[in-house]
Amino acid sequence: MTSGHWMAFSFRLPHMLAGKNIALGVTGGISVYKMCTVVRLLKKAGANVRVMMTQSAAEFVTPLTFSTLSQEEVVVSLWPENKKTSTNLGVKHIDIGLWADVMLVAPATANTIAYIAHGNADNIVSSTVLALRCPLIIAPAMDVDMWENRATQDNLTTLRERGYFILPPESGELASGLTGMGRLPEPETIVDFVNGVIVKTPQDLKKKKILVTAGPTHEPIDPVRYIGNRSSGKMGFALANAAALRGADVTLVSGPVSLGTPNNVKRIDVETAEEMYGAVMAYAKKQDVIIMAAAVADYAPAEQAKQKIKKQHATMTMELRSTPDILRALGEKKTKKQILIGFALETENELANAKIKLQKKNLDLIVMNSTKDKGAAFGSDTNVVTLIDTKGNVSALPKMPKFDVAVEILNRAVKEFNR
Ligand code: C5P
Repeated sequence: MTSGHWMAFSFRLPHMLAGKNIALGVTGGISVYKMCTVVRLLKKAGANVRVMMTQSAAEFVTPLTFSTLSQEEVVVSLWPENKKTSTNLGVKHIDIGLWADVMLVAPATANTIAYIAHGNADNIVSSTVLALRCPLIIAPAMDVDMWENRATQDNLTTLRERGYFILPPESGELASGLTGMGRLPEPETIVDFVNGVIVKTPQDLKKKKILVTAGPTHEPIDPVRYIGNRSSGKMGFALANAAALRGADVTLVSGPVSLGTPNNVKRIDVETAEEMYGAVMAYAKKQDVIIMAAAVADYAPAEQAKQKIKKQHATMTMELRSTPDILRALGEKKTKKQILIGFALETENELANAKIKLQKKNLDLIVMNSTKDKGAAFGSDTNVVTLIDTKGNVSALPKMPKFDVAVEILNRAVKEFNR
């Protein structure tokens, strides 16, 4: 079963919890007891914590315990206690959503995960999630069969694609007596993960416009066939998500892929290199950063057959024409303030070829990956890249999740802004 190790955290990350506002949604599972320690650790680290509980969570541990630990009122109901004065009380699920720097739902039951995936808002936790503007972390905990159920896994895929962080459960003894995946990780692991999300989503791209391209392009041969590069679009989508989480105004121009759109990302779907060129050029001028992560086809059939080509001969010759080089065109028009980032997938002489591309296309940064690297395969959730800038700085990053690669690339863009 895939647990989606989508983001790796390291103990070497700086501690960023002090002064941060953390909304905690507790839902009903036996592991609620661990969350008492989580609240204590977060408070000890200097964070402000506001706890919301579903009715079933309150069956396991009383709200009084959490309010004592958090030194804040705990919200269990969507409804104000004094209904007569409700208009003066504010709307809690909106208030807490706006107050939070990060929200954590832990333990997240299969039911709550389904609620969030489908936009249900009939309790304080799921409605706060729906009104949320900050990053959301979901820490599932449940019995192994519920965890492995396709419904739960499909819901988690939806949530991951939307840009939420999933802290996978651990394997071990479960409350049911069964053994398997489903245990809520230990409090220290949860707190570390929250800290990691804060480190990776600084609000340093507010008011910046970022355009990202992703996926392959399909160049039609006839009405049913095409020429294209192998590309899942995952790297570009991770970039769009990471930028949106940092507050940027993100436009994602995507070729044909089967991925959901991250929250707060404006997506434009295209098929061909020509269409991608058109879409990118229409938005390019106003962008602060443009990142071309798409695997654009370099050649397209010179002519597109109107009908499906019949299988007639043992061999077939097709004339191809080159497609517009979008990145090169962007490099030629680049304004002084604009940051232009390209990708280079090489199979040989990687570094030398990437450096040539950086210069030829007038880029600020090139992200090189090689087909030789393990863990950098098409469709993989991890990538192994080397970043090369105009001053000749070369940094080879270790294998890491594509989201973390995106964070590193955006860190470079922020550095350029600050120069
Ligand atoms: O020259 P090459 O195709 O290897 O360069 C790769 C980089 O150029 C990628 O960033 C890719 O998105 C971009 N590119 C482009 N238009 C093309 C081909 C590649 O923008 N027609």
